[in-house]
Amino acid sequence: MEFPFDINQIFSERVSILDQTLVAGRRSAERPDLQAHIATVIDELGRASAKAQQLTAPITSASKLQSQRHQLYLLKDGESSGGRGVVVGFLKVGYKKLFLLDRGGVHIEAEPLCVLDFYIAENLQRHGYGLELFDFMLQHKNLEPVLMAYDRPSPKFLSFLAKHYCLTQSVPQVNNFVVFEGFFFSNRSVAQLRKVPLKKPDGEIKPYSLMEREVVRQEQRTLPWPFAPPHSPQRLVSSQCSHSPSMRSSPSRAPPQVLLPSSPGGSRNQSPQSPLIDRCRERRSSSLSRSQLGFH
Ligand code: COA
Repeated sequence: MEFPFDINQIFSERVSILDQTLVAGRRSAERPDLQAHIATVIDELGRASAKAQQLTAPITSASKLQSQRHQLYLLKDGESSGGRGVVVGFLKVGYKKLFLLDRGGVHIEAEPLCVLDFYIAENLQRHGYGLELFDFMLQHKNLEPVLMAYDRPSPKFLSFLAKHYCLTQSVPQVNNFVVFEGFFFSNRSVAQLRKVPLKKPDGEIKPYSLMEREVVRQEQRTLPWPFAPPHSPQRLVSSQCSHSPSMRSSPSRAPPQVLLPSSPGGSRNQSPQSPLIDRCRERRSSSLSRSQLGFH
């Protein structure tokens, strides 16, 4: 993605981490003109991502980033465009309080790191850039992908998660978030999870809160998922990923139950072990060495 200004001047690192401040390094903090360029880049990326996901309104923009506690990882290729650099894509993550159902159907309150938006420029997709960005974020957050929740992942993203991280078995949910087998059993994750009390002091518990994509959809005034028209991304997920029961669940408001989640059986600091992840490591390390060798 090219811009009429020097990308390398704004983003000094190959991957920049942006937050509410919209600052990408010391230089942009001191220069309001560079910050305006950063806002332009984020807005453009957000629009492109929305288009790719067939959303009529972006869920990522500079103003949204400024008002939310999310982090946006931006990947550039500094050598392209005659040395001015191009923006390759972005990944937006943030913590969300979610009410999730474990495999036994027990409501659990959790606040996992969620993937909220993810986009690689069309002409650069399937070149390993998505993996580079995702791996960077995992390393930065010191996290395994099975511990994360995914906000209405597109078919391409589901394929990406299956290919690179062996995440294939999702646990059915009543909201738009997808979590995979292992989320509830990982030591670290279970330590974060809380059983849901029957009542909160301030009223009834809602099984899921109004998320960004819900807001966008309300703005669009379309039918809610899963009643969206057949061409919508969510419907595509449902048809392509029919093995995923979460995609078939109706969004109902089941009353929360008070049941104990299974015992974590380990300390919070232990690194999470998953046979799925182990199985994937070999494949991932071979793809990493490929990308290190420059086979993009
Ligand atoms: N169709 C199906 N799967 C695709 C795909 C496509 N057009 N593009 C990427 N993938 C998946 C596949 O599993 C692919 O492996 P394969 O080529 O062996 O089939 C794998 O991703 C490639 O990995 P990588 O090159 O690292 O991914 P990427 O750079 O293409 O980035 C996405 C992945 C999902 C970010 C990117 O495809 C994208 O921006 N898609 C459009 C926006 C989107 O759907 N975002 C997800 C928001 S929830």
